[in-house]
Amino acid sequence: MLLNEPILNSERTEIYIQNPSLINPVSEYYRVNADFLRPWEPAREESYFTREAFCERLELAEKNFHSGMSVQLAAFDRMSGNLAGIVNFTGIIRGPFQACFLGYSLSESFQGRGYMHEILTTAIAYMFNEKRLHRIMANYMPRNGRSGRLLEKLGFEREGLARDYLLINGKWEDHILTSLIRKD
Ligand SMILES: CC(C)(COP(=O)(O)OP(=O)(O)OC[C@H]1O[C@@H](n2cnc3c(N)ncnc32)[C@H](O)[C@@H]1OP(=O)(O)O)[C@@H](O)C(=O)NCCC(=O)NCCS
Repeated sequence: MLLNEPILNSERTEIYIQNPSLINPVSEYYRVNADFLRPWEPAREESYFTREAFCERLELAEKNFHSGMSVQLAAFDRMSGNLAGIVNFTGIIRGPFQACFLGYSLSESFQGRGYMHEILTTAIAYMFNEKRLHRIMANYMPRNGRSGRLLEKLGFEREGLARDYLLINGKWEDHILTSLIRKD
Protein backbone atom coordinates (compact mmCIF):
# COMPACT_ATOMS: atom_id res chain seq x y z
CA MET A 1 0.00 0.00 0.00
CA LEU A 2 1.29 3.48 -0.94
CA LEU A 3 1.06 5.79 2.05
CA ASN A 4 1.48 8.90 -0.09
CA GLU A 5 -1.97 8.28 -1.58
CA PRO A 6 -5.23 8.70 0.31
CA ILE A 7 -6.52 5.54 1.92
CA LEU A 8 -10.05 6.99 2.16
CA ASN A 9 -12.11 9.79 0.65
CA SER A 10 -15.01 11.63 2.24
CA GLU A 11 -17.17 14.21 0.49
CA ARG A 12 -14.80 17.12 1.25
CA THR A 13 -11.59 15.41 2.39
CA GLU A 14 -8.80 13.06 1.37
CA ILE A 15 -7.67 10.87 4.27
CA TYR A 16 -4.11 9.55 4.62
CA ILE A 17 -2.42 7.18 7.03
CA GLN A 18 -0.05 9.32 9.12
CA ASN A 19 3.52 8.77 7.91
CA PRO A 20 6.78 10.78 7.71
CA SER A 21 5.91 12.29 4.29
CA LEU A 22 3.24 14.36 6.14
CA ILE A 23 5.72 16.00 8.51
CA ASN A 24 5.22 19.56 7.20
CA PRO A 25 1.40 19.75 7.37
CA VAL A 26 1.21 17.75 10.61
CA SER A 27 3.81 19.82 12.46
CA GLU A 28 2.18 23.02 11.14
CA TYR A 29 -1.24 21.75 12.36
CA TYR A 30 -0.01 21.22 15.92
CA ARG A 31 1.89 24.53 15.99
CA VAL A 32 -1.01 26.62 14.66
CA ASN A 33 -3.56 24.88 16.89
CA ALA A 34 -1.45 24.62 20.07
CA ASP A 35 -3.57 27.14 22.04
CA PHE A 36 -6.86 25.79 20.67
CA LEU A 37 -6.05 22.17 21.56
CA ARG A 38 -4.38 22.84 24.94
CA PRO A 39 -7.54 22.48 27.11
CA TRP A 40 -8.38 19.10 25.54
CA GLU A 41 -5.03 17.32 25.25
CA PRO A 42 -2.15 16.20 27.48
CA ALA A 43 0.27 19.00 28.40
CA ARG A 44 2.95 19.27 25.69
CA GLU A 45 6.58 20.13 26.49
CA GLU A 46 8.51 22.30 24.00
CA SER A 47 10.29 19.12 22.88
CA TYR A 48 6.96 17.77 21.54
CA PHE A 49 7.04 20.40 18.77
CA THR A 50 10.53 19.68 17.38
CA ARG A 51 10.85 18.30 13.85
CA GLU A 52 12.64 15.26 15.23
CA ALA A 53 9.77 14.45 17.59
CA PHE A 54 7.16 14.81 14.82
CA CYS A 55 9.23 12.55 12.60
CA GLU A 56 9.49 9.88 15.32
CA ARG A 57 5.73 9.95 16.00
CA LEU A 58 4.89 9.76 12.28
CA GLU A 59 7.31 6.84 11.80
CA LEU A 60 5.66 5.07 14.73
CA ALA A 61 2.18 5.74 13.31
CA GLU A 62 3.24 4.15 10.02
CA LYS A 63 4.84 1.17 11.75
CA ASN A 64 1.82 0.65 14.01
CA PHE A 65 -0.53 0.78 11.01
CA HIS A 66 1.44 -2.00 9.29
CA SER A 67 1.57 -4.13 12.45
CA GLY A 68 -2.19 -3.68 13.04
CA MET A 69 -1.83 -1.83 16.34
CA SER A 70 -3.39 1.46 15.26
CA VAL A 71 -4.91 3.40 12.39
CA GLN A 72 -3.86 7.05 12.65
CA LEU A 73 -5.30 9.33 10.01
CA ALA A 74 -4.80 12.84 8.68
CA ALA A 75 -7.72 14.34 6.72
CA PHE A 76 -6.99 17.07 4.17
CA ASP A 77 -9.62 19.46 2.86
CA ARG A 78 -9.80 18.80 -0.89
CA MET A 79 -10.60 22.43 -1.81
CA SER A 80 -7.87 24.22 0.15
CA GLY A 81 -5.35 21.39 0.59
CA ASN A 82 -5.16 22.23 4.31
CA LEU A 83 -4.96 19.62 7.03
CA ALA A 84 -8.47 19.74 8.51
CA GLY A 85 -8.29 17.09 11.21
CA ILE A 86 -6.53 14.22 12.90
CA VAL A 87 -8.19 10.93 13.83
CA ASN A 88 -6.45 8.21 15.85
CA PHE A 89 -7.78 4.69 16.33
CA THR A 90 -5.30 3.29 18.84
CA GLY A 91 -4.85 0.32 21.16
CA ILE A 92 -6.40 -2.17 18.75
CA ILE A 93 -7.02 -5.39 20.67
CA ARG A 94 -8.05 -8.54 18.81
CA GLY A 95 -9.06 -11.93 20.31
CA PRO A 96 -12.52 -11.88 21.85
CA PHE A 97 -12.46 -8.05 22.27
CA GLN A 98 -11.96 -6.70 18.69
CA ALA A 99 -11.93 -3.14 20.00
CA CYS A 100 -9.97 0.10 19.95
CA PHE A 101 -9.95 3.67 21.27
CA LEU A 102 -10.79 6.71 19.19
CA GLY A 103 -9.30 10.20 19.58
CA TYR A 104 -9.70 13.18 17.24
CA SER A 105 -9.21 16.89 16.74
CA LEU A 106 -10.04 19.47 14.11
CA SER A 107 -8.05 22.50 13.12
CA GLU A 108 -9.74 25.49 14.75
CA SER A 109 -10.59 26.98 11.35
CA PHE A 110 -12.55 23.84 10.39
CA GLN A 111 -14.74 23.73 13.49
CA GLY A 112 -18.51 24.07 13.27
CA ARG A 113 -18.78 22.96 9.64
CA GLY A 114 -19.50 19.25 10.01
CA TYR A 115 -16.01 18.17 8.97
CA MET A 116 -15.30 15.82 11.86
CA HIS A 117 -18.68 14.13 11.54
CA GLU A 118 -17.99 13.57 7.85
CA ILE A 119 -14.42 12.32 8.40
CA LEU A 120 -15.42 10.00 11.24
CA THR A 121 -18.39 8.57 9.32
CA THR A 122 -15.95 7.46 6.61
CA ALA A 123 -13.19 6.36 9.01
CA ILE A 124 -15.50 4.36 11.29
CA ALA A 125 -17.01 2.52 8.30
CA TYR A 126 -13.42 1.56 7.35
CA MET A 127 -12.63 0.33 10.87
CA PHE A 128 -15.78 -1.78 11.03
CA ASN A 129 -15.89 -3.07 7.45
CA GLU A 130 -12.21 -3.38 6.49
CA LYS A 131 -10.53 -3.81 9.89
CA ARG A 132 -13.46 -5.88 11.17
CA LEU A 133 -13.54 -4.25 14.60
CA HIS A 134 -16.55 -4.82 16.82
CA ARG A 135 -16.34 -1.92 19.28
CA ILE A 136 -14.90 1.61 19.11
CA MET A 137 -14.51 3.42 22.45
CA ALA A 138 -14.40 7.22 22.70
CA ASN A 139 -14.27 9.16 25.93
CA TYR A 140 -14.70 12.88 26.59
CA MET A 141 -14.67 15.37 29.44
CA PRO A 142 -18.18 16.38 30.56
CA ARG A 143 -17.45 20.03 29.69
CA ASN A 144 -16.47 19.16 26.11
CA GLY A 145 -19.94 19.72 24.72
CA ARG A 146 -18.80 19.74 21.07
CA SER A 147 -17.19 16.32 21.43
CA GLY A 148 -20.23 14.93 23.25
CA ARG A 149 -22.63 16.18 20.55
CA LEU A 150 -20.42 14.78 17.81
CA LEU A 151 -20.29 11.31 19.38
CA GLU A 152 -24.03 11.28 20.02
CA LYS A 153 -24.73 12.18 16.38
CA LEU A 154 -22.47 9.31 15.30
CA GLY A 155 -24.47 6.88 17.44
CA PHE A 156 -21.99 6.37 20.31
CA GLU A 157 -23.76 5.31 23.51
CA ARG A 158 -22.87 6.43 27.01
CA GLU A 159 -21.55 3.61 29.20
CA GLY A 160 -20.45 5.41 32.33
CA LEU A 161 -18.33 8.04 34.01
CA ALA A 162 -14.70 7.32 34.86
CA ARG A 163 -13.17 9.42 37.65
CA ASP A 164 -9.71 10.94 37.08
CA TYR A 165 -9.48 9.08 33.81
CA LEU A 166 -6.86 11.02 31.79
CA LEU A 167 -4.16 13.57 32.58
CA ILE A 168 -5.34 16.48 30.42
CA ASN A 169 -3.43 19.77 30.37
CA GLY A 170 -1.73 18.77 33.62
CA LYS A 171 -4.84 17.72 35.58
CA TRP A 172 -6.54 14.34 36.07
CA GLU A 173 -9.96 14.74 34.46
CA ASP A 174 -13.17 12.74 34.73
CA HIS A 175 -14.40 11.38 31.40
CA ILE A 176 -17.72 10.16 30.07
CA LEU A 177 -17.16 6.73 28.51
CA THR A 178 -18.96 5.94 25.27
CA SER A 179 -18.74 3.32 22.57
CA LEU A 180 -20.09 2.37 19.19
CA ILE A 181 -20.71 -1.27 18.38
CA ARG A 182 -20.78 -2.65 14.84
CA LYS A 183 -24.27 -3.53 13.70
CA ASP A 184 -24.05 -6.70 11.60
C1 LIG B 1 -14.48 17.94 19.13
C2 LIG B 1 -14.42 18.60 17.76
C3 LIG B 1 -13.73 17.68 16.75
C4 LIG B 1 -15.85 18.90 17.30
O1 LIG B 1 -15.82 19.70 16.13
P1 LIG B 1 -17.20 20.19 15.46
O2 LIG B 1 -16.86 21.07 14.33
O3 LIG B 1 -18.11 20.71 16.51
O4 LIG B 1 -17.83 18.82 14.93
P2 LIG B 1 -18.46 18.50 13.51
O5 LIG B 1 -17.42 18.46 12.49
O6 LIG B 1 -19.28 17.30 13.69
O7 LIG B 1 -19.40 19.74 13.21
C5 LIG B 1 -20.62 19.88 13.88
C6 LIG B 1 -20.99 21.32 13.92
O8 LIG B 1 -20.95 21.88 12.60
C7 LIG B 1 -22.25 22.42 12.26
N1 LIG B 1 -22.38 22.24 10.81
C8 LIG B 1 -22.23 23.25 9.90
N2 LIG B 1 -22.31 22.76 8.66
C9 LIG B 1 -22.51 21.43 8.76
C10 LIG B 1 -22.66 20.39 7.82
N3 LIG B 1 -22.59 20.61 6.50
N4 LIG B 1 -22.85 19.13 8.27
C11 LIG B 1 -22.89 18.87 9.59
N5 LIG B 1 -22.74 19.82 10.55
C12 LIG B 1 -22.55 21.10 10.12
C13 LIG B 1 -23.21 21.66 13.12
O9 LIG B 1 -24.40 22.37 13.33
C14 LIG B 1 -22.40 21.50 14.42
O10 LIG B 1 -22.37 22.71 15.14
P3 LIG B 1 -23.06 22.81 16.57
O11 LIG B 1 -22.50 21.68 17.43
O12 LIG B 1 -22.69 24.17 17.03
O13 LIG B 1 -24.52 22.61 16.29
C15 LIG B 1 -13.64 19.97 17.81
O14 LIG B 1 -14.33 20.84 18.67
C16 LIG B 1 -12.21 19.84 18.34
O15 LIG B 1 -11.31 19.46 17.60
N6 LIG B 1 -11.99 20.17 19.62
C17 LIG B 1 -10.68 20.17 20.23
C18 LIG B 1 -10.11 18.76 20.42
C19 LIG B 1 -11.09 17.85 21.13
O16 LIG B 1 -11.87 18.27 21.94
N7 LIG B 1 -11.00 16.56 20.82
C20 LIG B 1 -11.87 15.56 21.39
C21 LIG B 1 -11.42 15.16 22.75
S1 LIG B 1 -12.57 13.97 23.43
